[in-house]
Amino acid sequence: MCGIVGYIGHKEKKEILLDGLQELEYRGYDSAGIAIIEDGTLKHFKEIGKLENLRQKTKSYTSNGFGVAIGHTRWATHGKPTELNAHPHLGEYSFIIHNGIIENYQEIKNELTAEGVQFVSQTDTEVIVHSFENENHTAKTPFEAFTNTVKKLEGAYATLLVTKAAPNTIFFAKSRSPMLIGFDGDDVYFASSDSPVIGKANEVYYLEDGEYGYAKSGEVKLFDANGERKISKQALATDKVLAQKDGYRFFMEKEIYEQSRVMSETMMGRVLDSGIDFDEFDKSLFDGIYAIKICACGTSYHSALAASYLFERIAKMRCDIEIASEFRYKEPFLTDKTLFITVSQSGETADTLEALKMAKRAGLKSLSICNVDNSSIVRESDAAILTRAGIEKGVASTKAFATQAMVLWMLSLYIGQLRNTIPKDKIEIEIDAMLHTPKALVVEDKLHERIHRLSKRYLHGHGFFFIGRDIFYPLALEGALKLKEISYLHAEGYPAGEMKHGPIALADSELFTIALMPKTLLYDKMKSNVEELSARDATILAISPETFELADDFIQTKHANHPMVEFFEMMVVTQLLALEISVRLGNDVDMPRNLAKSVTVE
Ligand code: AGP
Repeated sequence: MCGIVGYIGHKEKKEILLDGLQELEYRGYDSAGIAIIEDGTLKHFKEIGKLENLRQKTKSYTSNGFGVAIGHTRWATHGKPTELNAHPHLGEYSFIIHNGIIENYQEIKNELTAEGVQFVSQTDTEVIVHSFENENHTAKTPFEAFTNTVKKLEGAYATLLVTKAAPNTIFFAKSRSPMLIGFDGDDVYFASSDSPVIGKANEVYYLEDGEYGYAKSGEVKLFDANGERKISKQALATDKVLAQKDGYRFFMEKEIYEQSRVMSETMMGRVLDSGIDFDEFDKSLFDGIYAIKICACGTSYHSALAASYLFERIAKMRCDIEIASEFRYKEPFLTDKTLFITVSQSGETADTLEALKMAKRAGLKSLSICNVDNSSIVRESDAAILTRAGIEKGVASTKAFATQAMVLWMLSLYIGQLRNTIPKDKIEIEIDAMLHTPKALVVEDKLHERIHRLSKRYLHGHGFFFIGRDIFYPLALEGALKLKEISYLHAEGYPAGEMKHGPIALADSELFTIALMPKTLLYDKMKSNVEELSARDATILAISPETFELADDFIQTKHANHPMVEFFEMMVVTQLLALEISVRLGNDVDMPRNLAKSVTVE
């Protein structure tokens, strides 16, 4: 997710920008850039990859005296992560940085191109700077030109513009993407979140949607659709880690809440009205492919297991799933008609990476589904689909799992389209369900509060069974893994229909059963399995849109018309349950004992 910083004042500007961008690294990015105007001279630097590359490039540059400066980390949406696409974008005499998506950029671009404006990048952002300079031909002041430009923009933006036409000024505007202004005497800062300005500014103003304005030395003017507005500053927190958590108690909690938003990013440009499209690879990747093998570990293995149902059901393609550490030593029989898919949040998991290398040695084509660009697994694969979850800090994976499941669902539909195994009306149903997913992931206060209250009843006992059927079986595995990772309580995931073949022997009132009971998939079968447990006095927590009279506790989810929408809503419930139980037990849920975020050893 892109990051923005800005500064006006007398201090050395390059270090302020680079340090600020470093604080925003956790958002994820693939290129970075800065622009500075000092003594009427415009300077800019851009680099792809890590900030360190930009640091190296700017090593011999320092900026002294009064000036204005803007910096940006870009997380590619429109156009690949190249230096040309990196921000700031230059017009003839102005620079722009932007976070968000300009939905009507094509329309604006067409108008400007017709007037002879040349575009050099593939980004939506570039239209802002050209639009500004175009308006500035006729406007009375640069601010009027900026105001007219902002009025044309549709979509999401937090944007800063600097221009030689007003060399002591930063113009700013915000709609649906976060941005704040920090104050320290006459020095003014801008940033996407608190952390870049902590320790620098002592007061802050969080911009509201629709606000725009300009900052000059010691003076900030703020406007909205009704005219000029007063800036009500507030004191700034001083703890950086607290600031990065945006007010949540834990990164894991923040990441659970982020799922709705990041899911839209995962789908952007890929889920179209007509079906699924992936820019990342050519459809020839699937030439001669008759089966899929997916290798992964832990949570990533669970998303893969859920996908195996979708690949067979939607794409009508044979799909086997393997735990990477098992696969490596089983002397697997591999044929080049199989596409080898790896799923990994970090892209560095040793077992998954080695499994991929083995498959490549056997001549298989490979595709990775990963959250970290340029990671070892991505580099090793023939093609990669990035999950776009943004950096995940909680060791217990949440949003990475959600976005993996979404990418795999999209991929199953993509292959179904390619192989003509899914009729047009079914494609429409799947697309519609995908577009409903962000809504299903919104955490409502009422739900969180209910889970918080319920959690106190689940701190003892001799264990948990999470049960589900079909795609809800991998979700049960994931729910159990989440709980054991952070609560240290014993939990197992089981296919509900399998309980009677042994595990039901454990059933008693001290055995907690978390039953995933979606209405859109095998509800009656699932109900019978839960009844069998209830008859043996197990304590049942049912998660379902349908009230279930035998349940000891009940969390009601919404009625949906697609199992995957129910899948995502129930996923949030299991994540919050694990979180709340663990918090009550006094555990550090972000750094659970014995676990590491990236498992680079065998
Ligand atoms: C998830 O909560 C875990 N911490 C763990 O199971 C993880 O999913 C596993 O180690 C695989 O990691 P990867 O996705 O980075 O490959």
